[in-house]
Amino acid sequence: MRIAVFSTQRYDRDFLAGANARFGHELAFFDFRLSAQTVETAHGFAAVCVFVNDRLDAETVQRLARGGTRLIALRCAGFNNVDLKAAAACGLTVVRVPAYSPQSVAEFTLGLILCLRRQLHRAYARVRNGNFSLDGLLGRDLNGSTVGIVGTGRIGTALAQLLTGFGVKLLAADPVVSSQCLELGVRYVPFEALLEQADVVSLHCPLTPQTHHLLGTAAFARMRRGGMLVNTSRGAVVDARALIAALKSRQLGAVALDVYEQEGDLFFTDLSNEVIEDDVFERLLTFPNALITAHQGFFTERALDEIARTTLANISAFEQGTVSGNEIKAEHGLAAV
Ligand code: NAI
Repeated sequence: MRIAVFSTQRYDRDFLAGANARFGHELAFFDFRLSAQTVETAHGFAAVCVFVNDRLDAETVQRLARGGTRLIALRCAGFNNVDLKAAAACGLTVVRVPAYSPQSVAEFTLGLILCLRRQLHRAYARVRNGNFSLDGLLGRDLNGSTVGIVGTGRIGTALAQLLTGFGVKLLAADPVVSSQCLELGVRYVPFEALLEQADVVSLHCPLTPQTHHLLGTAAFARMRRGGMLVNTSRGAVVDARALIAALKSRQLGAVALDVYEQEGDLFFTDLSNEVIEDDVFERLLTFPNALITAHQGFFTERALDEIARTTLANISAFEQGTVSGNEIKAEHGLAAV
């Protein structure tokens, strides 16, 4: 099948081209994002392959369909960037990679928690600079604390499993209860109770209209004073301006972000020689108790290999008229937000 692959970095091309030896698709790689501005590039391609920051709003989807595209293959788990209703109305099939390595994101999340808890990000810079003072690096044990997991799907459950070794009390909020989490001793509580009781709040729910700005002014006010927030889900689950206010007032003690609401303008690109115009993001970077990474949670060899193989298998299944099981239906009802 002829596939236009958008938002590709060198590592995407390497893993996809390597896996494609088994599938034999015709891959055309583009390093820019798919959006209403670039959709003409996809003209005549039966499938497009996209990632987290490609923007498939209703206009883009309709123009894809008019250009002959029949399949949107996401090479990620989240699908908040695709207008599913528009895709269904145009007869476009949407597939994704629901689980490539939940452990990759769970381990990364645990790394962020430990790093912030013990100020490793600051210690690393200090020692390289010849500053061996410990003043200001006082840490907090994770052992004995309460960790609240918002969303106990694949990644949230994998995190709960890792955390069982740390002697923490585990709370969770999710409309769907995971039997695996119950077996691990996780206690389900309402979202508000989780905010009030947890020392560390870690977000693992998808971005939907219901979870958009779930962590806003009211939620920060409910959190334990001096608590920690970790977001490796999707940027817009957190209201970045409310986050800054919570950090400035010391209500929030620390934050780790692997995702950011406006990351599409920044992440996956080397902007070290550019002036960054996003003042909200730049303000976040100034806090000593904020640890920010550029959507890196998924980025392991195993995950990239799994993503490439599942994406190409999804496309082959569509081409052969079979069901891969990774189709996303419009009734998921998650218009792009
Ligand atoms: P999943 O679909 O297995 O689990 C999501 C869970 O969130 C489900 O149990 C669902 O019931 C729950 N949920 C939905 N609405 C909720 C709400 N309002 N409050 C609490 N829980 C709610 O998804 P998975 O694989 O665990 O991934 C979670 C999210 O992580 C993805 O949607 C994606 O946005 C993000 N992600 C981030 C990556 C990164 O590199 N940082 C990589 C992969 C995924």
